[in-house]
Amino acid sequence: MGVISRTYYHLPQALARFLHCRLGIQCGHYDYRKAAHLEDYLREQFRRYTTSNLVGITPDDFEAQIQSKLGTVDASIEGYSQEGLDHQRDLSIKFHWGHNHDFGTFSLAGRMGDHHIRLVRDFCSMFPVTVDDFRDRDVLDIGVWTGGTSLVLAGLGSRVVAVEEVRKYADMVTFLSKSFGISDRLCAVPKSLYTCQGEEFYERFDIIYFPGVLYHLSDPVVALRNLYNACRVGGMILLQSQGIRHRKPYCQFEGSYVYKRGQKSDLSRGGWNWFLPSASAICRMLTEAGFTDISARYFGKTIFAFARKTSRVDVCRAGLSVRDIQ
Ligand SMILES: C[S@@+](CC[C@H](N)C(=O)[O-])C[C@H]1O[C@@H](n2cnc3c(N)ncnc32)[C@H](O)[C@@H]1O
Repeated sequence: MGVISRTYYHLPQALARFLHCRLGIQCGHYDYRKAAHLEDYLREQFRRYTTSNLVGITPDDFEAQIQSKLGTVDASIEGYSQEGLDHQRDLSIKFHWGHNHDFGTFSLAGRMGDHHIRLVRDFCSMFPVTVDDFRDRDVLDIGVWTGGTSLVLAGLGSRVVAVEEVRKYADMVTFLSKSFGISDRLCAVPKSLYTCQGEEFYERFDIIYFPGVLYHLSDPVVALRNLYNACRVGGMILLQSQGIRHRKPYCQFEGSYVYKRGQKSDLSRGGWNWFLPSASAICRMLTEAGFTDISARYFGKTIFAFARKTSRVDVCRAGLSVRDIQ
């Protein structure tokens, strides 16, 4: 039944994409032919992250290290107290793999599927950005899970700082970066994006890569202001978010009691979303943070946005939770 309903609902969209690719139709803001080529290219780039390219570790030890983490339950490493555990996110307590990855000698299915590949494809197919724009650039990748997106960006020639608030995942990104000999291009930081402030972050990045995180945040305006501060003048932000379809700048509040697929007994529930914004709300938040040249679009079930930092401007401080933010 699930398969039938999935096919029923997704077939028209999949069919439209297939026809667009085959016929080379550029549909509105999305260039489907370019997207198909780009996806092939990105998949090819990602193939470098296989056990045949490991540095300083054997394929067996590499696999054993990863397997030893999968499914482990560790709340203390995240600083959660035993009494408060019921309030914490399943995916932060138990180690779940993030993005699909074929390591050559073994492969892992991630909860985000091929998001890491498809996102770059989609950003480059609907906004004025190309894969070449990532070459030799400083990129701040926010909320990276086990690092699929960060590996893709490093593969495109970026110097990536990967920020992840869940320590067990950030540690895995460090392990992957070391194992593939790219520590000079991919550095994982186990902290929340709210704490990405000060000298080492201020105007240090050309691209702020921010998919899949905005709706997880309790304070999206402060978060965006932090990212604005981290962005160089002349830089850009690429944002993708779950959201609501509405013409007006509305946000739907969910909070930490709304769960999606998965089971509590298995610590596999999704959810833990704070605010689901409309595209128009995202545009307004980006404006408040200081960004300009903003565009936001619905694509599939989510919202994609692009904006630039064209100058340094102040933020409205009335009611701001971090009043002395830069
Ligand atoms: C849905 S995943 C998105 C992964 C990846 N960016 C993608 O789009 O495929 C969200 C990730 O953001 C992390 N995250 C949520 N809030 C965060 C915060 N305040 N600071 C840093 N990471 C955060 C979560 O732990 C999780 O790994």
